[in-house]
Amino acid sequence: MTDARDQPLSHAYPIGSRVDARGHLQIGGCDAVELAAQFGTPAFIVAEDDLRERARAYVRGLTALHPDGDVLFASKAFPCTAVYRVLAQEGMACDVASGGELALALRGGFDPARIYMHGNAKSEAELRFALEAGVGHVVLDSLHDVERLERVAARLGVAQEVLVRITPDVSGDTHAAISTGQADSKFGFGLAQAPAALERIAGSPHLRMVGLHCHIGSQLLELEPFRRAVSALAQLGEFDVYNLGGGLGVAYLEAQEPPSIPDYLAAVVAAAHAELGPGKRILFEPGRSLVANSTVTLYTVQTVKRNVSTWVAVDGGMSDNLRPMLYGSRYQAAIASRMHATGGELCQLAGKHCESGDVIIRDVELHEPAPGDIVVTPATGAYGYAMANNYNGVPRPPVVFVSGGNARLAVRRETYEDLMSRDVD
Ligand SMILES: Cc1ncc(COP(=O)(O)O)c(C=O)c1O
Repeated sequence: MTDARDQPLSHAYPIGSRVDARGHLQIGGCDAVELAAQFGTPAFIVAEDDLRERARAYVRGLTALHPDGDVLFASKAFPCTAVYRVLAQEGMACDVASGGELALALRGGFDPARIYMHGNAKSEAELRFALEAGVGHVVLDSLHDVERLERVAARLGVAQEVLVRITPDVSGDTHAAISTGQADSKFGFGLAQAPAALERIAGSPHLRMVGLHCHIGSQLLELEPFRRAVSALAQLGEFDVYNLGGGLGVAYLEAQEPPSIPDYLAAVVAAAHAELGPGKRILFEPGRSLVANSTVTLYTVQTVKRNVSTWVAVDGGMSDNLRPMLYGSRYQAAIASRMHATGGELCQLAGKHCESGDVIIRDVELHEPAPGDIVVTPATGAYGYAMANNYNGVPRPPVVFVSGGNARLAVRRETYEDLMSRDVD
């Protein structure tokens, strides 16, 4: 056992996190153990300053490199009003992928003119909602999408500005479920189909095609695939606007060293300058790299069982973090009141759900785990709350914003009444 009080906390934790003299984790100046007592567990704790700092890194970074640009919050990563509000305040634009995300983005204060509507299967109702709300751009994904948007735009008597999503046949090293740039993808137009589709869209009286979009995948830890995607787009001719998507990876584990936001922007903007011609508007669309590391999840240990392994079961699991089950994603964990103690017993950190696969982290070292301990998993801000669900009738956790030693409830915990509120029989 070593004493880690003088060692920096893993960079998976939010910026500004620290371990106090008692060995308690502090996030946004608040004691994680006290937050658990005040708000209950499981709970998503968001360090607001971290969120703002990463937003500024994107917005200021792009402005410095290429003033004619915009950074869109890919809001599928963390679609809650308070997150939309903070990122709107930081001057970001927004990407939504459904009518529900659009409703949230509008409630969170985004100017509809700076909202981009995505989706590979948008319904007519979603498109009508988007156009009636005055959404600036719709990103077209298929010829049926084109026909549907034309019908809606014609009925409303508008000419809608659109981008066209291209699948550039470039994939990075990531899980198949979140790789989207390969030729055989459900998203966008392939390079072979794109020229005819672009001609068709350019000829439409109800659509105003301004440019191209691509998003090759998520949790990418290398920059080369982003450069290759820009080269692929350049093959399709010159356009005014290029949305180069999101996808920058983050550190879930101490050993992971993703490119920094400035390095990523510099590499992709340089590729755009070299390949796409002068005077272009360049957009980025980050989700994970904006929000993942802003947030930790707090759980309470309910049981510790020793058979072949040591099973440490907590009061959440696949209802608040599906990623380990969906993609085999790895996280780190610690006991929030004994952060100074490193090492410990090799454990299986299990959830409370009725599936053997509901294991949050396999083979994680925890220091003398016991019922009542508060376990923290960092880097849960992206696609955690977003994919939360009610399996086993478990109410979804609250979202708590912390900053400067103050905590405020942003989303309350669901109640049993909420679970029944839509049942009309
Ligand atoms: C079209 C689009 N843009 C942006 C993103 C955000 O990706 P990431 O969270 O990896 O930055 C996604 C993620 O699925 C996406 O589908």
